[in-house]
Amino acid sequence: MVEALARLRGRLGAFADNVTWFHEVGSTNDVALNFAELGRPEGTVVGSDRQTAGRGRHGRDWASPAGAGLYISVILRPEALVAPLLTLAAGVAIADGIREASGLAVSLKWPNDVYVGTRKLAGILAEAGTSGSGLNYVVLGIGINLMSASYPPDIVGRATSVEVELARPVDRGLLLATCLAALVERSRQLASGSSGTVITAWRRYGSDMFGRVVEFTVGSEIVAGIAENVDEHGALLVRTADRLVPVMSGQVRWQ
Ligand code: BTN
Repeated sequence: MVEALARLRGRLGAFADNVTWFHEVGSTNDVALNFAELGRPEGTVVGSDRQTAGRGRHGRDWASPAGAGLYISVILRPEALVAPLLTLAAGVAIADGIREASGLAVSLKWPNDVYVGTRKLAGILAEAGTSGSGLNYVVLGIGINLMSASYPPDIVGRATSVEVELARPVDRGLLLATCLAALVERSRQLASGSSGTVITAWRRYGSDMFGRVVEFTVGSEIVAGIAENVDEHGALLVRTADRLVPVMSGQVRWQ
């Protein structure tokens, strides 16, 4: 791990010297949120071999057995609150990083689930806050499946892992380093006003999902439509019976 980080050092920016690794934690996001509150800088990375209380989106658990996944959280302190673009950029970065380290052809499901075919390979939990000093921060929690074998049976059917797809072991350190390097690159693009480049990359990774039926909620109503594209703000554009709806947040259910 140290070796891979050293090799890609020139591309790691603030992430280069800021990795704290644990053998076991409840959730790396909780540790990183705590670090952010204590004023730790942008680029702080928290990783763990296993998590006893890994959290996914929408209040779900994230199974995190030892060695079966890469579990990391990073602190970003964007100048302006750029969510949801940051959420999409994180998905693009993780797709870039996985592709660079493994050669796997991955796709993105809005907003930032990473898939191979119909099985999920990685997920991102973004949590924002304001620390005592008044600075906004975002913690991006990233879980990448490395080996599916030790996951609970209900997940195994819907998930895949880098090693299952490659049929060979993957260098966890290299995967960490390429994902961090890609995060640096994609956040720089956002910060320098090149969000169009990020959206174009997202559309390329997400094109498999366009044309599929999705359901989303408006108030207490469930509306169905066809996912058509993402717009320049990162919203999912869904064609319903009578209009094109930009869906910004909330739960989108893919059929
Ligand atoms: C999802 O539901 O798709 C998001 C999963 C995010 C899991 C990662 S693992 C590292 C970090 N710590 C957590 O507790 N969750 C995130």
